[in-house]
Amino acid sequence: MPAPELALTERFQSAFAAAFGPEYADADPIIRPSQFADFQCNAAMGLAKRLGRKPRDIAAEILAAVDLEDVAETPEIAGPGFLNIRLRTDWIAAQVAELSGDAHLGAPAPQRPDTVVIDYSAPNVAKEMHVGHLRTTVVGDSIARTLEKLGHTVIRQNHIGDWGTPFGMLIEHLLEVGEDSAEAQLLQTDPNAFYQAARAKFDAADQAGPAPDGGDFASRARSRVATLQSGDAESLRIWSQLVELSKQYFHRIYDMLDVTLTDQHLAGESTYNDQLEAVCRDLEDAGIARVSDGALCVFPAGFVGRDEQPLPLIIRKSDGGYGYATTDLAAIRHRVRDLGADRVAYVVGAAQELHFQMVFSAAREAGWLPAEVEAQHVKIGSVLGEDGKILRTRSGSSLRLMALLEEAVATAQTVIDELRPDLPAPERAQIARDIGIGGVKYADLSTAHDSDYTFDLDRMLALTGNTAPYLQYAVARIRSIGRKAETQGVTAAEAPQVVNDAERALALQLLEFGPTLAAVGAEYEPHRLCAYLFGLAQAFTSFYEASPILKEADAATRAGRLALAQLTERVLVEGLDALGVSAPQQM
Ligand code: ARG
Repeated sequence: MPAPELALTERFQSAFAAAFGPEYADADPIIRPSQFADFQCNAAMGLAKRLGRKPRDIAAEILAAVDLEDVAETPEIAGPGFLNIRLRTDWIAAQVAELSGDAHLGAPAPQRPDTVVIDYSAPNVAKEMHVGHLRTTVVGDSIARTLEKLGHTVIRQNHIGDWGTPFGMLIEHLLEVGEDSAEAQLLQTDPNAFYQAARAKFDAADQAGPAPDGGDFASRARSRVATLQSGDAESLRIWSQLVELSKQYFHRIYDMLDVTLTDQHLAGESTYNDQLEAVCRDLEDAGIARVSDGALCVFPAGFVGRDEQPLPLIIRKSDGGYGYATTDLAAIRHRVRDLGADRVAYVVGAAQELHFQMVFSAAREAGWLPAEVEAQHVKIGSVLGEDGKILRTRSGSSLRLMALLEEAVATAQTVIDELRPDLPAPERAQIARDIGIGGVKYADLSTAHDSDYTFDLDRMLALTGNTAPYLQYAVARIRSIGRKAETQGVTAAEAPQVVNDAERALALQLLEFGPTLAAVGAEYEPHRLCAYLFGLAQAFTSFYEASPILKEADAATRAGRLALAQLTERVLVEGLDALGVSAPQQM
């Protein structure tokens, strides 16, 4: 069941080959939505250049050669050589009938499914899981869901920060406050507060200078790092206690957010510990890494600093310690070699762009990332407060994610309490959750992932505009029509009705679902799906205003429109599901 652009592309390419020779068979017909018709073909201008002829003549020749009979009316030549195409309504109706029989709603099956490793969320143990991690979590989850719907194999990798020098002070702090203390519980509720307390102790002790017996907090924290790294059992036990408490916190957030990450997807930095030495040795043996100022570095080709000197990617510090880059090199090797990735996507803050470019280049040079494996950094922008700065609480600390989500649900609760006091309380609570969480996630997803956005709860929860509640409301409305139809004994026709202009416009929107989903899966851009769904919901509203369903007197039309509405419901629900947003039964 080809979407209109695809069907038109095929027809035009055969025409190009017939008119201009086989070497034109794969020229891009440049099919675009048109203001004057449904689509236009903009290829004549480019082909004219290639052929050294006049664009309008080329347009006329294309027109003579193209066979659109069953698909479209005879195109019109406009301007310098645009071909305006109006699809045949019966063709649209036939496509939509096929769409409604397709379990995948037009999502194209890949020629060969890819194994896609997606590195996303990746908060840090005993550190902020602030609104910044909201985006890496929500965007990554939507990409994972979308790729699965498209038939790819997705391997989720939650690269949590669970290793490194801060663990010395964190372990010492946990020992001091006691593993069962109220302070330790902070790891599960407000890990940043736990981290800050440990940090404050460390800084104070560090400033005061080492105690002669080495028993001050800073000295103990430093030697704890060493014992931990040497594999000391007691240190490892307390470390895993820290990680365990943090994991519980992460998963409470994931449950609240309704994201698909579970324990099984955890692959934190510590996972790669025993591979770091080999990573360094292999790179050194291959002549890719060399020692510079005491540190082992890779200098990937093409990266220079301000002083025009090659930029180092440090993989072993002069004190012998390994860092973030070493771990990422071990991770990428594992993902390609052991997990069999055809593509690797890193959904991580935009600030880490240089890091990933250098890691990818180094991995390519090492042969760990072959040319046919695609690696992409899906850059994530910042969440800003009303002042245009990174979102923080009034006291200046980073905002607790859980508090933010609870506030969103509470706000949604007041909205739904006012809107539907007639509904039972448990149902209202569920709807509040769908709207509150859906609203926050959707606001995040509907912004291009690499641009910043301002966190504005009122806008996120508004019932109008490109918001989750607007789409959820559209779904609830169709579902309510469905319930009414049932009580009236009206059943939907097998094929949706596509006759009048409003039905036609809605049908054309529905046919774009598959291509949109495929584009999101290829480009990692969920905001395109949001824009699409918003357009679809608007097309539904216009359709419903122009074409009554249950009030329609003609039984066949009534049943055909009900089928069109219910197909719209399915596409909206499926699209929202790809975003990780659930649609309530009523609103
Ligand atoms: N934990 C890191 C942070 O919070 C993100 C890790 C991203 N993934 C990776 N493979 N480096 O910034």
